[in-house]
Amino acid sequence: MNIKYAKKPIPELQARGYLGHFPEFRDNPLQFLGNLNRECGDIAKFRMGPMYFYYVNHPDYIKHILITNRKNYHRDRKFLAEGIPILGRGLLTTDAEEWERLRRIAQPVFHANQMAKYASMISEVATNSLKRWEVSANKGQPLNIADEILRLTLDVVAPTLFGINVTDEWQSFINSVNIIQAEGAKRLVTPVTLPLWIPTRSNIKANIALRNIDNTVFGMIAKYRQQQKAQHNLMNALIQARDEETGDSLTDQEIRDQVVTLLTAGYETTASILAWLFLLLSQHPEVEQKLRYEIEIVLKNQSPTYEYISSMKYLRMVIQESLRLYPPIWIFARTPIQSDDLGDYEIPANTVVYISPLMVQRHPKFWQSPEDFKPERFEVTEPTHSELAYIPFGTGVRSCIGRNFAIMMMQFIVIKVLQTYRLHLVQNQHIKPQFDITLHSHNGIYMNLEKI
Ligand code: HEM
Repeated sequence: MNIKYAKKPIPELQARGYLGHFPEFRDNPLQFLGNLNRECGDIAKFRMGPMYFYYVNHPDYIKHILITNRKNYHRDRKFLAEGIPILGRGLLTTDAEEWERLRRIAQPVFHANQMAKYASMISEVATNSLKRWEVSANKGQPLNIADEILRLTLDVVAPTLFGINVTDEWQSFINSVNIIQAEGAKRLVTPVTLPLWIPTRSNIKANIALRNIDNTVFGMIAKYRQQQKAQHNLMNALIQARDEETGDSLTDQEIRDQVVTLLTAGYETTASILAWLFLLLSQHPEVEQKLRYEIEIVLKNQSPTYEYISSMKYLRMVIQESLRLYPPIWIFARTPIQSDDLGDYEIPANTVVYISPLMVQRHPKFWQSPEDFKPERFEVTEPTHSELAYIPFGTGVRSCIGRNFAIMMMQFIVIKVLQTYRLHLVQNQHIKPQFDITLHSHNGIYMNLEKI
């Protein structure tokens, strides 16, 4: 006989008023989630509007949800409701067999052995884009590094994803991507939203942007299908990709949904972490010096190549530590399909469970001096932290498909920037994290540039 013991009630942070904790969660999630941990521990329940939400902040719970019992945990229903009309049915917005097929087809495109093909292109584009910074460097004008890195990342992503250079058409396409991203972000934190077909001002704007995106992407797919000579970029790889099990390829609509998903998931995240990384370097000159030394020793003023970057251990550690303190995807969620036992507690079905890389990666139980920037903590071969207390790319089968690509982009861009400029943080500016879908700095990050 199976005896089911009563579970303990999940600790709850009491809320007053109709909105409950929604304003605190929206306005300062870092503080709010910290409060939840202090008051309730590593598993908590809180109310926003009429709905209850759950939050876990312990590697064991994370392992259970994302690995051990992952089939019971789908993308959270709010994300799906808001994401599907915008992103279509791509990797971010599907589950179960539908997702498995898409992931099987897309996986080889991002395999580590494909990365060398994108490397030289990334290096070349970054070199050219960095020339734009010279004007400010020569005039002694500070630059908003966050914005500039965003542009630079786009310059890199355009040819690697689509095989095109940044043109006016591409710029208008990116503006449209930004519009739908902002619309999606707003919808995710708004408890009740109107469907996109209702002609409100922001819906009309989003629909125009979506039409622009569709026209551009479908146009590109058609062009690619007619091309005789295959190019090395992700778009072409997606067109050529075949399901290893069934031999299936992707339809035009599926490719459109993948492309929009990959762009949305890929370029702001990478740009976000690079901006924080340069901020951290400017605040820790001893780390910057050590990094510059490694770059000099390994590359001797030459441009980076794929073969060399893998030997740059300190660079990797600096990136790892920056991702620990400022994970671009600072929070994500799952919905349990059936109620589930989580340690001593039970999570009800059809709810939303939050996991925050930002919080677990600064958890004092799992990290020594968690608020300090210390790349050396990643030096040891035996990790000193619990493996699942470090999840900037998620974990398990749904972890980030673009991880290798993102790390490579970061490595090349960091090297290129440091080989070309010294960055000096403008003093007395108020740098404040902004918690959108990705983690931005609210007013940008201003730096003075010195050409090397
Ligand atoms: C530093 C940069 C990046 C970070 C920190 C990051 C982070 C993440 C995280 C945390 C997840 C898992 C979310 C979850 O479990 O719910 C994820 C998934 C994903 N990422 Fe990234 N990402 C980055 C760059 C990229 C790039 C460059 C691409 C593509 C070009 C990409 C494409 C995706 C996709 C498609 C998924 C969904 C995977 C799936 O569900 O099968 N990401 N990413």
